[in-house]
Amino acid sequence: MNSFIEKIENELLPHLAIESINPYDPVVIHHLPSPWKAVGTGNYAAVVIHPDYPDLVVKIYAPGRPGFAEEVAVYQQIGDHPAYSKCYHYGENYLMLKRMYGTTLFECFHQGIPIPLHVIKDVDKALSYAQQKGLTPHDIHGKNVVLHNGQGYVVDISDFYKEEPCSKWKDLKKAYYKLYYPFFYRHPFKIPYFVLNFIRKSYRLFKKMKAAFKN
Ligand SMILES: Nc1ncnc2c1ncn2[C@@H]1O[C@H](COP(=O)(O)OP(=O)(O)O)[C@@H](O)[C@H]1O
Ligand SMILES: [Mg+2]
Repeated sequence: MNSFIEKIENELLPHLAIESINPYDPVVIHHLPSPWKAVGTGNYAAVVIHPDYPDLVVKIYAPGRPGFAEEVAVYQQIGDHPAYSKCYHYGENYLMLKRMYGTTLFECFHQGIPIPLHVIKDVDKALSYAQQKGLTPHDIHGKNVVLHNGQGYVVDISDFYKEEPCSKWKDLKKAYYKLYYPFFYRHPFKIPYFVLNFIRKSYRLFKKMKAAFKN
């Protein structure tokens, strides 16, 4: 573990260049020193692995993006649950986490991988567990849930400290039960990225308009 921390601090961080151009799109990795590899990017952070430590990931927050200290606190509060990762260590702007294997639901849509009902139930159970721990599930969407061997896992709990309710998981579930499961589950097809990103952006616009009409 200590040698991994040294690698992160001496070999990764001084050479890594990441940028969050806007908070609604994934962080851009301009430079990642070898042999580190990216395993994902969120709107606030980049997640990378080192081949000598395949069961660990490093999540680095992009400069200027908030929420790092809160994410550390959420990991301390949530404790142990099989559907969530664990934080083993953290530094100034990064967390060392247990690696979660699997494919994000967003990628499943893209690759035409069928998403079983079990995944939805697993995530529901994991979210109730988080609530029991005094947290509020937040920002659970297709890029924050992964499918692995037929089971669902939640990869991003960084916003669970926010107290206002979030409807993303409820909306995703509604789309799953009404549209996906009855029509597409048995005949999944590959959805191109531009269509997926169009859905992502339209959803955000739709939510904004709904909120504007409410006020
Ligand atoms: N513990 C993990 N193990 C493996 N991959 C992960 C892990 N955490 C995050 N990822 C990958 O990195 C992506 C971005 O991480 P995420 O925590 O969602 O960042 P953000 O808080 O910026 O949204 C995820 O969508 C997922 O693909
Ligand atoms: Mg995320």
